[in-house]
Amino acid sequence: MTEPQDAIDAEGDERTTERDPRVHEHNAGDQQEGIPFVGAGPGDPKLLTVAGKELVEDADLVVHAGSLVNSELLDEYCADAETVSSIGKDLEELIPLMRDAYEDGDDVVRLHSGDPAIYGAALEQMDALEHEGVPTYFVPGVTAAFAASATLRTQLTLNEVSNHVAFTRPQGKTLDEDEDHISEFVEMGDVTTCVYLGTHAVGETMDRLLDAGHDPDTPVAVVYHASWPDEDVIEGTIGTIGEKVADAGYRASALVLIGEAVTGTGYERSYLYDGWANRGSGEADD
Ligand SMILES: C[S@@+](CC[C@H](N)C(=O)[O-])C[C@H]1O[C@@H](n2cnc3c(N)ncnc32)[C@H](O)[C@@H]1O
Repeated sequence: MTEPQDAIDAEGDERTTERDPRVHEHNAGDQQEGIPFVGAGPGDPKLLTVAGKELVEDADLVVHAGSLVNSELLDEYCADAETVSSIGKDLEELIPLMRDAYEDGDDVVRLHSGDPAIYGAALEQMDALEHEGVPTYFVPGVTAAFAASATLRTQLTLNEVSNHVAFTRPQGKTLDEDEDHISEFVEMGDVTTCVYLGTHAVGETMDRLLDAGHDPDTPVAVVYHASWPDEDVIEGTIGTIGEKVADAGYRASALVLIGEAVTGTGYERSYLYDGWANRGSGEADD
């Protein structure tokens, strides 16, 4: 097997010179040749897409993302497949596992939590597989931020409150201090900042925002295990949420949402349902 970084570099180089023809041949919902990288959704098996469900039901091997893929989903839809957790496995182990099964004629599915395009590290696996001659493709899923906003009964964008959404993560092992942009997103004011991979560091993240001079009353919601049976919602502000999350004892598996939109208040009716849609050209931004 080619060394994974060499495979990634080679696939990337190829992409710079020639667009993959499959981009123009397939829609996102199409079943395609190869190993699908499927978004399992946030946890509740009902939030897996129909396309994803059909693929896992037909699979012989499902390689899943461990604790953030609900075992109920695996029990319900993957009863006929061998299921293997990717936790603790590096690319050197994962790639031959999926390649060999695929080459033996098995239907293989790679199941990521939420949507594989958000903090999924999917493309590196796909490139390494493609380099080994195994075709791959994405099947989207419901990302945690969308489940969390549904739980909170709000929108991430809200007229006159939030015009933008940032999917981000805090500084730590992967991001240096100067790559952490949470403070800049909050500074913009009309952004809902969705912090992934930051449950263990809510207190530190809020302290940094306070040190940067942000309003301690800015609303923050933390949704633990959105859509799971043990889902929990902690609401507070930049000034209070750190202590509340520490008291609850959550160190992983929660989404932190910062900004006025998390409260679902203070917005104004939009142009869309204010006669605007029936004026002009009939075109609408939905
Ligand atoms: C490696 S990232 C994967 C994100 C995933 N690809 C997605 O689209 O939701 C894992 C992080 O996603 C967030 N997360 C995933 N599932 C969640 C859920 N059901 N509820 C709250 N946060 C979740 C947490 O912040 C967790 O640390």
